Amino acid sequence: MSPRRHRLALAATLLTAMFAATSYGLPEPPKESPSEEAEGCLGCHEDPSIEVAFADGTRRTLQVDRNAFAQSVHSGKVACSECHPGFQEVPHPERRFASEDEFRNGMRQACQTCHFQNYSRYMDGVHHRVAKEGGPAPSCVDCHDAHAVTPPGKPRSRVSDTCSTCHSDVAEAWAKSVHGRLASGPKPDDAPVCTDCHRSHDIQDPKTQAFLLRTPETCAKCHADAERMKPYGLSASVVSTYLSDFHGMTASLEAPHAEGTNRVTAVCIDCHGFHDITKVDEPGSKVMKENLLKTCQQCHPDAAGDFPSAWLSHFEPSLTRAPLVYLTKQFYTLLIPFIIGGLVLQILLHFWRVVVNR
Ligand code: HEC
Ligand code: HEC
Ligand code: HEC
Ligand code: HEC
Ligand code: HEC
Ligand code: HEC
Ligand code: HEC
Ligand code: HEC
Ligand code: HEC
Repeated sequence: MSPRRHRLALAATLLTAMFAATSYGLPEPPKESPSEEAEGCLGCHEDPSIEVAFADGTRRTLQVDRNAFAQSVHSGKVACSECHPGFQEVPHPERRFASEDEFRNGMRQACQTCHFQNYSRYMDGVHHRVAKEGGPAPSCVDCHDAHAVTPPGKPRSRVSDTCSTCHSDVAEAWAKSVHGRLASGPKPDDAPVCTDCHRSHDIQDPKTQAFLLRTPETCAKCHADAERMKPYGLSASVVSTYLSDFHGMTASLEAPHAEGTNRVTAVCIDCHGFHDITKVDEPGSKVMKENLLKTCQQCHPDAAGDFPSAWLSHFEPSLTRAPLVYLTKQFYTLLIPFIIGGLVLQILLHFWRVVVNR
């Protein structure tokens, strides 16, 4: 801003202050709405030439993009001074900063006052841990921006774009996967993006047993939902068959007290991969017949030949597939109610005798 315009703006502010003083005795003028206040601030802050100088000799522009702010979720709802308390006073009280980092870090605390839940979740996540140790991890403003905040999950693919600014290798692998291809197609909302598996704020260390043993639950949100799977012709019983199998049973038994990073069993991603999941029959699939033995050998190094065929995969036992397992199951489904029913009947008969014999 030119010195002349700065002086004009100052004069205007002083005049307003004098006018306010002479109206003493009249009812107080209504408090400025967030938009009116923003207009006042932008009167100076739209100007690209106002800058701040830091003690280390660097400078930063103090221009605020009017259009970006007008289109943000906060526009008209949150006043500039709710994120920048104390700045209604013009000229602003004099402040000095050692560096741009110090200047920005101060302002970046603004979000927590209104979004406390997201803030406390963020405090539990890996990014906060890395940031605390001085690493280059994102804070609220790196993922959401400060003035151009728009709905973060719309469209759905935007989520992965946000994460890919730093995790580009992962994002590339995901984009080529069956899920990533779906996300860039006509039905993006059906596909899992980064935050469906990792969450957005309380992101956990993905190598821990606690995280990995919960992944079947994550996949189940979609893969156990028959409505969601129907358009793709996929079975919705992959989760129930997994859970009734040895691997799945171990996973559900161990999940509540999982510790450390030692693997105790196979979860979905051990057979299917995670960022690079393919259709089960496309080249490169870890579970197609040609590759399946190799997939089992990751953990069953002695497995050979027809090892996988000793296992039911996701098939439910039936008379044609694994008839012995099927018949044993049927036998137990009949036997167990029969035994319990018999027990209950015996107790009732005892009671009856006691009552009748009195
Ligand atoms: C009269 C012009 C003017 C108005 C009106 C104005 N500012 Fe400023 N603002 C400045 C100038 C100039 C600076 C540079 C530092 C300084 O001189 O205080 C600045 C600096 C800032 C900074 C940088 C932080 C800092 O400590 O320097 C923020 C944030 C800010 N203003 C917010 C606001 C908000 C919010 C409003 C409205 C409530 C507002 N300003 C109204 C001129 C103005
Ligand atoms: C939702 C909270 C929020 C609102 C609303 C908000 N700001 Fe900011 N502002 C911030 C944060 C956070 C930063 C620090 C940005 C960074 O580190 O990149 C910032 C930075 C600034 C800066 C320093 C220069 C820059 O862009 O980094 C100025 C000047 C400023 N804001 C003025 C304003 C004005 C004027 C308004 C109203 C039109 C406004 N702010 C509304 C949170 C907010
Ligand atoms: C003074 C309170 C306040 C502060 C401070 C504040 N916000 Fe907000 N924020 C709101 C309100 C109110 C809404 C809801 C707007 C709506 O629903 O239309 C909102 C909405 C949002 C949304 C969109 C939510 C959605 O579901 O689409 C995001 C993202 C967001 N804020 C991020 C931030 C960030 C980042 C900061 C810090 C730079 C911040 N907010 C600071 C009050 C605040
Ligand atoms: C690593 C990037 C990242 C960081 C850091 C981050 N967010 Fe988010 N945030 C997201 C994404 C992505 C979504 C949308 C999630 C979705 O739709 O799956 C989101 C959603 C939101 C929402 C709207 C939905 C909701 O949960 O209410 C708000 C508000 C929000 N974040 C505020 C914050 C605040 C405040 C901080 C800092 C304490 C923060 N975020 C830090 C990425 C981030
Ligand atoms: C500003 C850069 C940045 C953004 C944006 C970002 N991250 Fe990170 N992330 C990091 C850094 C730095 C680390 C810690 C170093 C590492 O392990 O890669 C990290 C770590 C992680 C980890 C733990 C990795 C491990 O091996 O322990 C996960 C998971 C993760 N981020 C997911 C996400 C997701 C999901 C998003 C989007 C919502 C996201 N990140 C956005 C920088 C970023
Ligand atoms: C379908 C679920 C799923 C989706 C979608 C997903 N991840 Fe992961 N991600 C995982 C699992 C599971 C692991 C841990 C695997 C392991 O280490 O055994 C992981 C590991 C990671 C790691 C740790 C380092 C590494 O490369 O293994 C980072 C960082 C990460 N994911 C970021 C992302 C980002 C960014 C996206 C979006 C582009 C994303 N993830 C999408 C499930 C997912
Ligand atoms: C021990 C390895 C293994 C584990 C663990 C495993 N799968 Fe599979 N999965 C396979 C094999 C092999 C196939 C291909 C043959 C078949 O359809 O049964 C398959 C097929 C699938 C299919 C395609 C189904 C269809 O209708 O074509 C989906 C989806 C799937 N699995 C998801 C999952 C989910 C979700 C989990 C975890 C709850 C999981 N898988 C656990 C090996 C595994
Ligand atoms: C947000 C929902 C969602 C989540 C969460 C999800 N998926 Fe999927 N997945 C889908 C949809 C929808 C398809 C079908 C994509 C297509 O055919 O274009 C699919 C396809 C697949 C396929 C390919 C099946 C085939 O042969 O066509 C496998 C394997 C798979 N997912 C495994 C997993 C695993 C493992 C997890 C958990 C780590 C998981 N998915 C999490 C929605 C999801
Ligand atoms: C991530 C490691 C891992 C992978 C991959 C894996 N398993 Fe396992 N599997 C285990 C562990 C650990 C056990 C013992 C604990 C349990 O039952 O869950 C086990 C148990 C078994 C058992 C029960 C009998 C026994 O040896 O204890 C069979 C059969 C089996 N797996 C078959 C398979 C087949 C077939 C594949 C490939 C399609 C496969 N596994 C892939 C880790 C794995």
